[in-house]
Amino acid sequence: MPFDILKNLDWSAHKTALRTELCGRLDKSYMQKEVTLCGWVNTRRDHGKLIFIDLRDFSGLVQLVFDPAKSQKSYRLAKKIRSEFVLMVKGKVAERSPDTINKELKTGEIEVSISEIEILNGAKTPPFLFNEREKVDEMTRLKYRYIDLRGGQMQKNIRLRHLIASKTRDCLNSKGFLEIETPILAKSTPEGARDFLVPSRLNPKKFYALPQSPQLFKQILVFSGFDRVYQIARCFRDEDLRADRQPEFTQVDLEMTFVREEDVMGVIEGLMGSIFGALGIPIEIPFKRLTWQQAIETYGTDKPDMRFSLTIKDISSLFEDTGFKIFNNVLKKGGVIKCLVCGQAGKFSRKDLDQLVDMAKSYGAGGLVWAKVGKGLDLQSPVSKFLSEKEKRSLVDKLDLEEDNLVIIVADDFLITCQILGYIRDHLAKKLGIIGKGFTPLWVYDFPLFEWDQKNNCLTPMHHPFTSPSDETVSMLDKDPLKVKSRAYDLVLNGEEIGGGSIRIADINIQKKIFKTLEFTEHMIEKNFGFFINSLNYGVPPHGGIALGMDRIVMLLGGLSNIRDVIAFPKTQSAVCMLTDSPSSVTREQLNEVHIDLKDDDGQ
Ligand code: AMO
Repeated sequence: MPFDILKNLDWSAHKTALRTELCGRLDKSYMQKEVTLCGWVNTRRDHGKLIFIDLRDFSGLVQLVFDPAKSQKSYRLAKKIRSEFVLMVKGKVAERSPDTINKELKTGEIEVSISEIEILNGAKTPPFLFNEREKVDEMTRLKYRYIDLRGGQMQKNIRLRHLIASKTRDCLNSKGFLEIETPILAKSTPEGARDFLVPSRLNPKKFYALPQSPQLFKQILVFSGFDRVYQIARCFRDEDLRADRQPEFTQVDLEMTFVREEDVMGVIEGLMGSIFGALGIPIEIPFKRLTWQQAIETYGTDKPDMRFSLTIKDISSLFEDTGFKIFNNVLKKGGVIKCLVCGQAGKFSRKDLDQLVDMAKSYGAGGLVWAKVGKGLDLQSPVSKFLSEKEKRSLVDKLDLEEDNLVIIVADDFLITCQILGYIRDHLAKKLGIIGKGFTPLWVYDFPLFEWDQKNNCLTPMHHPFTSPSDETVSMLDKDPLKVKSRAYDLVLNGEEIGGGSIRIADINIQKKIFKTLEFTEHMIEKNFGFFINSLNYGVPPHGGIALGMDRIVMLLGGLSNIRDVIAFPKTQSAVCMLTDSPSSVTREQLNEVHIDLKDDDGQ
């Protein structure tokens, strides 16, 4: 973590009837003062004549010294103490001799000479030690989460999460937002992911769904005259999990009335500015902006990592009359030829390059062509013999190639080509170590309203079906829906999508038309969205909003790569809570109460 998360704490608030100070707070200014501390035993070292204990609370560690000459009773008790025992100790702060100063420790210049000790609680030998955390299997850490959370890193992560949540509330409250909660027992409305269902006892054969987001509720709140609303909302999506996804996660969700895109973006820039400011991290406001088309064309993704400048170049025009069959066929079919150029070609072995080819294939490309630029700007490539001298020369000229450059070329449909080069761009940046430090937020906007779902052979909203089409393209809804642009915007940070929002549809006829374009039947519209469509009949203001992925923001600001490290009680990759062993089976009585028969009931 690139900042001191405890810096602005009000320590005095932590004084209690049991303690006068916090362990990690003590320094030379406390010399000769008597203090009472409480905490856990981090380590204990018995040196025969003296016993040393590192006592830990959330603020850090301090060394305690037990000397039989000072207190026989305390020394005898200290002999019995083991790791994770909970202690209350009284003693005097003393200077350490120069040869025992511990520069690694904040309190390393002092120690506390103990006169009284009370063992508040014992502890079994913990299943792992904090300093071995990285070596311990994550499943074990999740099972003993109460131990894992005691470690310094997890304490910092959760504290960072709290700080971000409280800054969020401060900032939005100061901008006139009301915090309003919306139901968790909600309605199943197809929003993209699969719902988690909850059977209703009082309404046989009916189910609630846990909200994938409070989208419709927050819209309805602004229809109801609340000018701007927010909540730090729990969301639930039953989808395949990844390092940046959890089945239950938290969004900073907000909605505003009488706004355009720039109003919502302005609020979020202010909010991010205040979070980053609280952590002492500089960010540039206003954030950079790219249209979806620019992002895809230049970086191969709608969530580009802007910490490095490697960009995709279009070289289709150089191969218009090519004799190289693969390129020729792609261009004939309306495809494109694009490339990436990076330095340090010498770093890439034949095996590395073959790996890139395999990578491209695994992402759906027919293949990938690479070329190294050798002495005299000679192009060394497995396909060299298929390219004419003119083509090779124009490649060198157009791309300003230099010796030791590596050129990676992909030829395919526009989107596939860009996407594959996008993956390769990230891969190259990691391999070459060219990813810069710091945070580079980016707005991506002007998205297509729909995309084509290959698997189900149908149109699907790129965001959600309540996103407004742009005024300029709305007329194409009937003729060419894939050409319709939306008024959506995503917030991207260091290659992660950390937020998404839009100006919403306020016109009932357009909302109905969008549902129709998505081939929702009248019955389905009525069943799933009837209440919402109805609400659009009673005076809806222009409105828009956004949701930020809280967990992802904490993860990125904490310099972490695993979302589970910023959630107190996360689920595993297979959606299991290791601590409580949920999901778990329930009794037949419980099932009967909610009117459910299991298919293969084992009679438990
Ligand atoms: P969207 O689906 O883009 O938008 O979600 C908003 C942000 O939430 C985060 N996020 C997740 N984080 C962790 N685990 C997940 N499974 C997960 N899914 C999403 C991402 C994402 O950018 N209702 C709209 C918002 C709106 O239009 O106002 C919505 O939910 O960071």
